[in-house]
Amino acid sequence: MSRLVDGFGRVHTDLRISVTDRCNLRCTYCMPAEVVFRPREELLSFEEIGRVTKVAAAEGIRTIRLTGGEPLLRRDLALLVRMLVAVPGIAEVSLTTNGLLLVEQAAALADAGLARLNVSLDAVGEPAFERITRRTGLDRVLAGLAAARRAGFAALRVNAVSIRGLTEGEIVVLAEFCRREDLHLRFIEFMPLDADQAWRETSVLSGAEVRSILERELGRLEPLPVTDRGQPAVDWRWVDGGGLVGFIDAVTSPFCDRCDRLRLTADGQFRNCLFSTTEWDARSLLRGGGDDAEIAALLRACVGAKRAAHGIGSPAFERPTRAMYQIGG
Ligand code: 5AD
Ligand code: SF4
Repeated sequence: MSRLVDGFGRVHTDLRISVTDRCNLRCTYCMPAEVVFRPREELLSFEEIGRVTKVAAAEGIRTIRLTGGEPLLRRDLALLVRMLVAVPGIAEVSLTTNGLLLVEQAAALADAGLARLNVSLDAVGEPAFERITRRTGLDRVLAGLAAARRAGFAALRVNAVSIRGLTEGEIVVLAEFCRREDLHLRFIEFMPLDADQAWRETSVLSGAEVRSILERELGRLEPLPVTDRGQPAVDWRWVDGGGLVGFIDAVTSPFCDRCDRLRLTADGQFRNCLFSTTEWDARSLLRGGGDDAEIAALLRACVGAKRAAHGIGSPAFERPTRAMYQIGG
């Protein structure tokens, strides 16, 4: 059986597929306020995504996560989920969404075989939600979470980006909300992937700082060992009971050494890292008569070129030219 091993011995089993660069929010840490989206014909069709997935699965990919932009803006996404779930070798298909359209789609996604849902939510207060996302809609996200529950999604996760000067005030309320609602909350350190290029090292609110705020206000936390090899988060347990809270300290404590992820952008480019400065053009092969062996070779080349670490903070660090919504979260 094939395996996608890079020059540092990391085995890649996870492929994150962005299905669109469009979004119905404009989160400041991701998108610009005014944005021009890719023309529709540049995006891969479901058939093209299915073909890449089949090739990737034969090469050793086992799990797929659909991202965007906002993936639920892609018409009939549940059809794609159903298609990918059926690809031999794929063990799990999951989705990261902002939750705005879950009320309408959660049941169909569950029925299509989607295994897990991550919902991005940085604040449960309307003013902060609007400040961060530049849009309204908190009530719809909360209703979407409830709909996901009703549809049977058990392991519901909430992702919150931590930004100094923007999200400190939301941490405690968000943590209390997630504890009450039995949602697995994960704080993600702000990474230099915002379209506005406003990121500075000083704007990273570290996981350690978030933990100290939580411990001061809500009680003691203790870390759990990382059991899942490719898991970027470290989960902490409330010592007095009542669930977990996770931290993806992507800047202050990078997980590059255990990274098992590859990416496919909505316009059909392979990337070996969020911070890749190079892309491998699968779309040209798909549309230019390339065969499966050529797609597999392209994917292997992408893996082979993967760097040891993202290097944020080092003098040689180069920001990728594309922002989060164009890469896929
Ligand atoms: N830094 C950290 N996380 C980010 N996300 C989007 N942009 C950034 C950034 N600049 C998160 C979103 C979502 C996931 C896909 O990535 O909140 O949860
Ligand atoms: Fe949309 Fe997610 Fe980017 Fe926010 S972070 S603008 S929800 S793609």
